[in-house]
Amino acid sequence: MPALIKWGILGLGKIAHKFASDLILVEDCELTAVASSNEDRAKVFAKEFGVNTFYGDYESLYADNSVKIIYIASLNQNHHGHVIEAIKNGKSILCEKPLAINQRQVKEMIDCAKKHKVFLMEGLWTRFNPAFEQVLQWIDRGEIGKLRYVNATFSFYGLDKEFDSRLFNLKKGGGSLLDIGIYPLFLASIVMGKPNSIKASAVVSETGVDEQIGILLTYDKSQAILYSSFSHHENMRATICGEAGEIYLDSRWHESPNLKLVKKEESFEKTFDFLGKGYTYEILEVNQCLRNNETESSKWSLQQSLNLVKLMDEVRKQTGILYPMD
Ligand SMILES: NC(=O)c1ccc[n+]([C@@H]2O[C@H](COP(=O)([O-])OP(=O)(O)OC[C@H]3O[C@@H](n4cnc5c(N)ncnc54)[C@H](OP(=O)(O)O)[C@@H]3O)[C@@H](O)[C@H]2O)c1
Repeated sequence: MPALIKWGILGLGKIAHKFASDLILVEDCELTAVASSNEDRAKVFAKEFGVNTFYGDYESLYADNSVKIIYIASLNQNHHGHVIEAIKNGKSILCEKPLAINQRQVKEMIDCAKKHKVFLMEGLWTRFNPAFEQVLQWIDRGEIGKLRYVNATFSFYGLDKEFDSRLFNLKKGGGSLLDIGIYPLFLASIVMGKPNSIKASAVVSETGVDEQIGILLTYDKSQAILYSSFSHHENMRATICGEAGEIYLDSRWHESPNLKLVKKEESFEKTFDFLGKGYTYEILEVNQCLRNNETESSKWSLQQSLNLVKLMDEVRKQTGILYPMD
């Protein structure tokens, strides 16, 4: 068995817990060290996941020579700074979505990773789960014919969150687009590519972030209708239609193991048995890339992350959502 890939985690909030629960299920790696701005939080987290090394600051994790790759699970406004510091210390990176606030920041992060010849990937975990792989295979094999329409949404009730929360605070890169609207945009861009035109309209909160947003993308012969919101709950399904059939991703589509393929003469459903919650598949992809000495994933490349943030920048321009980092 080859040597285990040694992971560190920076920023020990909600997503770091879910990610760590999945990471310990993956056989060819281990969680070696964790770091928080708060030493007590780091200690409790390390105990929960059986990790020997914990730090009450991030610099010690950057400097830990036993760690190969750091999963950045800090808030949106800190991704850029934390990723660049870690890369300068020679670390490979898996960074939570959105990779950063705007295209300027994403370009700087990509340039830095290229300069230091380390691996960098945005944690768009949906891309790697077996159900989503199946969707891409069906489309590639022509099962639904020429693509004409994508519909995807992502909503939950978040109006009870404080104005200072990561959802509503502009300084924290808040807003539904960067938090959850990124998933519908990711779906449209991975199956349809770069649109010819973008139209967006938002309901803006008192704090200046989008609390709900609608986006219409038009391509040569197809369209995507996308939506995200913090203002209500919704049973989130995604639909992909071609001239010869339809694919439905069951609720919540971005993490669902349940698919339906409908064609003129037949229709069938398929359910996948996920390992853990599904973060395992992006972890396996990163481990594989590191073992092959690759500096990016061909399944979710740095150019694809850059294209995605460019779309989000344009949507924000049209809806007047401006961050201090812009
Ligand atoms: N891929 C996904 O499914 C998914 C889901 C949710 C969020 N995310 C992304 O993950 C990132 C973090 O989101 P999150 O939901 O984990 O946010 P969160 O729970 O608010 O945690 C954010 C940061 O706050 C600090 N923190 C944690 N508990 C704290 C406490 N009790 N008091 C003060 N600070 C505390 C942590 O850093 P320190 O420990 O260093 O202080 C943590 O990194 C965001 O970029 C978000 O977009 C991804």
